[in-house]
Formats: sequence, structure tokens, C-alpha cells
Amino acid sequence: MLKDYLKSKRELVDSKIEFYLDRLEYPNVIAEGMRYSVLNGGKRLRPILLLMVLDLYKKDLELGIPSAVAIELIHSYSLVHDDLPALDNDDYRRGKLTTHKKFGEAEAILIGDALLTHSFSIVTDETERVAPEKVLKIISMISRYAGINGMIGGQMVDIESEKRKVSLETLEYIHTNKTGKLLKLPVEIGAIISDATKDEYTALEKYSECIGLAFQIKDDILDIEGDFEKIGKPVGSDLELEKTTYPSIFGLQKSKEILKEVVQTAKKSLEIFEKERVQMFLELADYIAFRES
Ligand code: IPE
Ligand code: IPE
Ligand code: MG
Ligand code: MG
Ligand code: MG
Repeated sequence: MLKDYLKSKRELVDSKIEFYLDRLEYPNVIAEGMRYSVLNGGKRLRPILLLMVLDLYKKDLELGIPSAVAIELIHSYSLVHDDLPALDNDDYRRGKLTTHKKFGEAEAILIGDALLTHSFSIVTDETERVAPEKVLKIISMISRYAGINGMIGGQMVDIESEKRKVSLETLEYIHTNKTGKLLKLPVEIGAIISDATKDEYTALEKYSECIGLAFQIKDDILDIEGDFEKIGKPVGSDLELEKTTYPSIFGLQKSKEILKEVVQTAKKSLEIFEKERVQMFLELADYIAFRES
């Protein structure tokens, strides 16, 4: 069952994150801030996706743990910076005060920077029994998907698109990059570690692109009709900043229909695998669309 699977994997990921971050000591505010910003009840969807691919190929999960933790650190850094006054200016994240509210703005910028840079040392120093060429490819992919041609690019256009109507093409660029790339990343890394065939790789890639888009459409919907207690971050943040989102372009009802279609396409893209083997991926696609947090 997906719920139990997610819980057990979340516990595993949390224990590994703790293990890597516990060693950091000085300067204390950075070490504390890094732990505060990561160990605060995230869903851990990105690392779990990587582990799901390894499970699909019956690989030892340890092969992918450093990469999985690194991606969660980068995701958490993106949230720390996303919440800053200069960006979305939000006070709550994962049900607690945002990092800049808790530690100060300069500190939050540096805590985010430290999470980003530290993630690379985790991949390089902690990955074992993975061929060096693969590790290089993983590092290259992480830096690409997190940077200008990935999350940062999407975040920049997201901000530029505040308070004005942009084309659907621009909205797709925003979603594909600000959210899509960090969800595609773990699936591709899992496929690289597992030696997926070319066709399998393409299928998994397509799946990850669809769930990435679905994930952000749902995030936009939850920003309108979510419950603060469940999403752990403010409701109405996008409206306040006049963000371009699926609901702002299509309305809530049509956005929900598009979300359903994208989830169906995600599931369809895995048809080359036996259904029993990809059961968790199929359930996860539905979970993304129906989640309340
Ligand atoms: C929130 O991501 C930011 C988006 C990319 C929409 P998540 O919804 O995965 O946040 P956590 O990690 O569970 O807090
Ligand atoms: C941010 O998108 C995605 C990131 C790269 C952090 P949002 O701004 O919609 O994320 P939330 O709603 O604050 O989590
Ligand atoms: Mg934002
Ligand atoms: Mg935000
Ligand atoms: Mg949002």
C-alpha cells in the first residue's frame, strides 16, 4: 500500500538526513539553520522517487541514498530562498516559522547557500559502489536541473510574471523548471544507477515530467482551497502576489480537469512495464492529484 510505503521510506530518508547533518557544528547558526530547514516534516517526495526507481530494479537503496539526501537538501534550500521577503515573502513553511523568520534574513540566505553547496559534498564524499562515470553524470545533472536551466530559471520567470498576464507557454516554462526539474532529477538518477534500458529511461522520464507538472498544478490549487493546518504554509500567497498559475489562467474547475488528464498521461507512460512492477508509481500519480498537503 502506498501510504505505508511512503511512511517507511520517509523514515529512512529522515534518518539519513539526520545522520549527515548531525556532524555539522560551526558556525552554529548555519548548522542549526540547515537542520531546522530540512528536518521539519517535508513529504520527502523527491528522495522517495529515487528510492522507488531503485526498488523497481531491486537495487540496494544505499547506492542512491547520498543523491537522494542531496536532492532533498537542494529542494529545502529552494524553499528557504523562495520564502524570503524578496521572493514570496511567506512566514510559515511545513507548519513552522520560515527560516528567515526564525534566524534572520542574512542567515537564511547563507543557510540556503550552505544547503546547496553541502549537497554536492554529500554526493561526492558519501556515494559508494557506484561507478565514477555515473557519479560524474549525477553531479552534472544535479547542477543543471537546480540551476539556470532548471529550478532557478523557473523561479526567475515566476517572479517576472507576477502582476501580469503571461502566455500558457511561459506558464509551462515556469512549472517545468521551478518544480518539474527537481522531481525529474531523482527519477533520472535512479534510472542511471539502475542501468535502465533506453526505452525504460524514456518512459520513466515522461512519467516524471507529468507528475512534476501535476504536482505544481495541485500546489497552485491548494494555494486557493487548501487548509493551512494541512499544507503547513499560507493559503492565498499566490493571489496576494498576483502570480501566474494554472487557476489564474484556466480557473479552478478547468485546472482540476487538466490535472486529471496529466495524471492519466503519467500512468500511461509506464505501460512498457508490467503493471505489478510499477504499482507504487501508479498509486503515487493519483496521490499527487488528490493530496491535501
Ligand atoms: C513545495 O514542495 C514547493 C513546490 C515545488 C510546489 P513540496 O510540496 O514537496 O514541499 P515539502 O517538501 O513537502 O514541504
Ligand atoms: C516554488 O513554488 C517552487 C520552488 C522552487 C521552491 P511555490 O512558490 O508555489 O512553492 P510554495 O507554494 O511556496 O511551496
Ligand atoms: Mg514561489
Ligand atoms: Mg512560494
Ligand atoms: Mg505554491
